[in-house]
Amino acid sequence: MMEIVAAADSDERGLSLLRVVNILQRVVVFLHSFTVDKTRGQTSTSTSASKTQQMPGMSEEEVAKKVKEICQELILSQEALKEVCDRLQEEINKGLGKESNPEATIKCFPTYVRELPNGKEKGRFLALDLGGTNFRVLLIELGDKCSMESRIYAVPQPIMIGPGDGLFDHIAECLASFIKERNLGTELLPLGFTFSFPCKQEGLTKARLARWTKGFKCEGVEGRDVVELLKKAIAKRGDVKIKICAVLNDTTGTLMSCAWKNHNCRVGLIVGTGTNACYMEKIEKVELWDGDLEEPHQVIINTEWGAFGDNGCLDFIRTEYDNTIDRESLNPGKQLFEKMISGMYMGEIARQVIVRLVAEGLLFDGKSSDILQEKGSFFTKYISEIESDEDGDFNNCYAILEELGLNNATDADCANVRHVCECVSRRAAYLAGAGVALLLNRINEESVSVAVDGSVYRFHPHFHNLMVEQVSQLIKPGIKFDLMLSEDGSGRGAALVAAVASRTSAMR
Ligand code: GLC
Repeated sequence: MMEIVAAADSDERGLSLLRVVNILQRVVVFLHSFTVDKTRGQTSTSTSASKTQQMPGMSEEEVAKKVKEICQELILSQEALKEVCDRLQEEINKGLGKESNPEATIKCFPTYVRELPNGKEKGRFLALDLGGTNFRVLLIELGDKCSMESRIYAVPQPIMIGPGDGLFDHIAECLASFIKERNLGTELLPLGFTFSFPCKQEGLTKARLARWTKGFKCEGVEGRDVVELLKKAIAKRGDVKIKICAVLNDTTGTLMSCAWKNHNCRVGLIVGTGTNACYMEKIEKVELWDGDLEEPHQVIINTEWGAFGDNGCLDFIRTEYDNTIDRESLNPGKQLFEKMISGMYMGEIARQVIVRLVAEGLLFDGKSSDILQEKGSFFTKYISEIESDEDGDFNNCYAILEELGLNNATDADCANVRHVCECVSRRAAYLAGAGVALLLNRINEESVSVAVDGSVYRFHPHFHNLMVEQVSQLIKPGIKFDLMLSEDGSGRGAALVAAVASRTSAMR
């Protein structure tokens, strides 16, 4: 069991500690760049002369113009975004249709969550959160306020791509140690399991994994009920007593967490390691629905929109960079919308563009570095940091380029790198915004709040504004909306799903 945070009393503290871990990682990368520097004599970090087609004699303005031309294909016109919206509508309709669903790429899984919280939910709950970069166990106390304790555990890479049993044994082990440390063993606590991968739900506590996404690929789990697998792993240990009351996607948790106090909330969105959205749909529009037809005539649909484009319908906006990322991923041909938007891929898109610009002699005098040439070395958080620099100031940008072993950058280089980052993040925000506009148009209520979470949305300095700008372009006149940061959907949201389930028989 790998534990990366000693103890986090609240999630905020957990996050701050994560930031400390991030800083330490950056120090390591920085030190690594020194080692590379030392060996530069032998390994030469410069792109070899034959590959470097420097453009001698170009002025800074001409270079900037050429950079803009190359980045142009990342800029989507309003017509293209409107088209994306229309195609998303078609694909969601296919997903919801009984006959068309098996062929549909956007699966639109009904979640069996039909009731939103009323703000009066109470009790103590456990939650498990698997689906981002880390795995968390949480203890949540719902009352007038919500308090929570959590612990974050790393999921080591070999477990992410090893046998399924290994993954569930790891989860059970973390849960057992969390319970033991807090002496929670005597209570039979209800537990909500936030499992943020595409699952076909067959009830509130039954979810078959359709396929792995976001860098996970554990054998023997696809097609199986993940609640059953978790129960088996827990039973094998024999030292944990819990009652699994709900299994949910992080988008559902995000929506529920926000709806707890905001009764206008109808959409949950994640732009983090992956991207996905859920929304409250009328049962009559869900041909797929096989539950009862009693009140309430609604159900949250987990769209799994990350798979949008897997049938080629987004090829008209995809670029060579998107193709490369897809080809080199663990799941080629899958999650193509996600690969244009989310944190697992944005940094790598930017890196590819930067590498091309260097090779064309438009950045750093045509000289690359070993680190920059490494796949995955340009983290998505760099985009947020570079765009956080004040206009005309490049402090973060210089620091990041140095971490990457690029020590001779100029202000002009920084401005061009920043432009690349802006194109990548703007495209992501506009695509996510087009998706949200479509969902709001489908819901067609006068005023709707959208709950949003995920590291990209949280930490990128302009993502929220860019999304608002795009939603406003495509939303039907007369609909009012707002995008709200939803605090801890995967923890509080999981507790709320479990709580609402025990309050009402409306969820089955
Ligand atoms: C991926 C998963 C999806 C999840 C999203 C955000 O797209 O397939 O279930 O909601 O990432 O974490």
